[in-house]
Amino acid sequence: MSFRNLLIEDHGAVRRITLNRPDKLNALNRETLTELHEAFAAAAAADGVRVVVLTGAGPKAFVAGADIAEMVNKTQAQAREFSKVGQRTFRSLELLPQPVIAAVNGFALGGGCELALACDIRIASNKAKFGQPEVNLGLIPGYAGTQRLPRLIGLGNALHMLLTTEMVGAEDALRLGLVQKVVEPEALLPAAVEMAKTIAAKGPRAVKLAKQVARQGLLTDFESGCGLEADKFATLFENEGAEGMKAFLEKRKPEWKG
Ligand code: COA
Repeated sequence: MSFRNLLIEDHGAVRRITLNRPDKLNALNRETLTELHEAFAAAAAADGVRVVVLTGAGPKAFVAGADIAEMVNKTQAQAREFSKVGQRTFRSLELLPQPVIAAVNGFALGGGCELALACDIRIASNKAKFGQPEVNLGLIPGYAGTQRLPRLIGLGNALHMLLTTEMVGAEDALRLGLVQKVVEPEALLPAAVEMAKTIAAKGPRAVKLAKQVARQGLLTDFESGCGLEADKFATLFENEGAEGMKAFLEKRKPEWKG
């Protein structure tokens, strides 16, 4: 698998996907979006990959947004299509069976913030800055930022970001629940990989189902979510769950299969 704008590396069960256009602050052009879509599909199909870490190349940016140079001359029809492509790509990221950790190393602006929002867990360097600056350009987010941001940090906090365009530093992002952990820049990738390895050591089916049920539950009512939880809970018995519980009782480490 080789891409012009992405680097893909496997470290055991952890796949690292790095956006690699540092001279353009990893801005998302059409080619990068297409490659991301392919990279996510490949990760979904890779049995050995249990956790994905997504990050940006260079010291300055995770992703500084959609590529403005590519957007500037788009017609309305082309802009709608560009939005749909980004939305589809980010949704495919969200729907990956494996958990995805965003390691946010710098600016996560516009589409970059939206990309981080589509990941399951966000770790930030203390230099990271999050923002939705689209209204500065006379635009609004086009990759589901208007939908995911209020769900994650609440409507007031989201509209504050969307309307003032003030950037949010890492510590404020932690307070808002926009990120789950803040570390020194040099500790970012080690921290993301350590978290990924911790998750990768758990029951693999259980990890996938925990993500799936929590995410689906947010899009449905409480009773339906609980119904889904009971169904998926039950599917773990007589296989992975049986091994995990038996191992606990026998005071040994579980041996996960598959
Ligand atoms: N689209 C296209 N190119 C971008 C970009 C974007 N979203 N963000 C940065 N770049 C390019 C710059 O044009 C510049 O390219 P050049 O060297 O060929 O001129 C290069 O990346 C470096 O960016 P620069 O602006 O010189 O860096 P800076 O440190 O002065 O500023 C930012 C950093 C992030 C504050 C600034 O680049 C910025 O505001 N970017 C746009 C953010 C945005 O509005 N995103 C939402 C888009 S919908």
